[in-house]
Amino acid sequence: MAEALRVGIAGLGTVGASVACVLNEKAAELTRQCGRDIVVTAVSARDPKRDRGVDLSAAKWFDDAAQMAERADIDVFVELIGGDEGPARASVKAALEAGRHVVTANKALLAKHGVQLAEIAEKRGVLLNYEAAVAGGIPVIKTMREAMAGNQVTRVFGILNGTCNYILTRMEAEGISFDACLKDAQRLGYAEADPTFDIEGHDTAHKLSILTSLAFGTRIAANDIYMEGISNITQADIRAAAELGYRIKLLGVAQRTDSGIEQRVHPTMVPTASVIAQVHGVTNAVAIETDILGELLLSGPGAGGNATASAVVGDIADIAKSRPGFQHGPVFGWPAKELKPYKKAQMRSHAGGYFIRLTVHDRIGVFAAIAKRMADNDISLESIVQQAAGPEIEAQKTVILVTHETTEAAVRKAVEGVTKDGHLTDKPQVIRIERAE
Ligand code: HSE
Repeated sequence: MAEALRVGIAGLGTVGASVACVLNEKAAELTRQCGRDIVVTAVSARDPKRDRGVDLSAAKWFDDAAQMAERADIDVFVELIGGDEGPARASVKAALEAGRHVVTANKALLAKHGVQLAEIAEKRGVLLNYEAAVAGGIPVIKTMREAMAGNQVTRVFGILNGTCNYILTRMEAEGISFDACLKDAQRLGYAEADPTFDIEGHDTAHKLSILTSLAFGTRIAANDIYMEGISNITQADIRAAAELGYRIKLLGVAQRTDSGIEQRVHPTMVPTASVIAQVHGVTNAVAIETDILGELLLSGPGAGGNATASAVVGDIADIAKSRPGFQHGPVFGWPAKELKPYKKAQMRSHAGGYFIRLTVHDRIGVFAAIAKRMADNDISLESIVQQAAGPEIEAQKTVILVTHETTEAAVRKAVEGVTKDGHLTDKPQVIRIERAE
């Protein structure tokens, strides 16, 4: 049997402890699958004394992750520290430069420094595996990088944040408040340390930027993503969506267009009958459209210790199975040095349907004025519905418009016009509609 694969784990929070547990509990199965033992020989974390529910006494303890990363007596450095700078970046860079394979779950680090780190890995001939960085336990990186060779991707989109999907699902199913749902997500260990990262779309954007690079062979451009979170979504939107045959999901979408690549993260109306609309709770889903395959949808657990640990252990096992000369290709699917510059499509030219919810004074001419603003901007309406704004506000009405395909620029102009007309009593709400099978 080949020599044991020696693993050093940096970061022993929820995910790190789960990885150590799985490697321990599944040692016999992993040895049979990989043809060699996988042994945790080194660990690094802040508090050596904390009970993590797993025996790590045989592993050498390091206070400094970067020092552990460079050790000649580990083969794989597993980075589960988090953060896009500091010890995470320093230790991953040190490990790659020292010729160690790296496994990381760190989407923020890859979104910011992924291309540079991939260049080092490819130059040193080592693997940089990051399955857990996008959509938790779903093997989307392997699928896009290895199983879809030769396919030309036209669009990739998905539910990439378990916390947001959990919140939206419970708001719809139970009619309860955003804040109550967020508290539960935090209690269950889904949310990031700073939950604004989840709910304002940053976490989704980091993951999307990695998928965009894999899909289109472009350099990662995490700062060029249009982003809106879910904190503006109200029960009124959720109810209106349901009445119109839609469900609201926070999607990350990357799409090839005539003017470049669109990368956007925002609350989205998807048809209730579509497959992605059936993805509930903390579950993630990624849809990939290509010229050869058509549309593929992967769904599964996207957050939490076990889901993430499953992906990390899969990455470690891939390294255990790899032999010099038989490693699986470039980090982002194309050699890092050959990734193309990212050509951004302007959000104003985004084409699609829109949901517009307006709260207006209940008086003569308001409806006609709204319709005129839409017509003046060449917006064709699929439906227009007027409802009472709520029992307590008799003098107001809610007007809900659903447009046929139009552009972002036209909708913004029309809504600005309606606002200027002085008929609104509250901020207008605009939610994009996404085509989904
Ligand atoms: N906070 C993330 C989520 C965890 O809610 O999906 C996985 O990245």
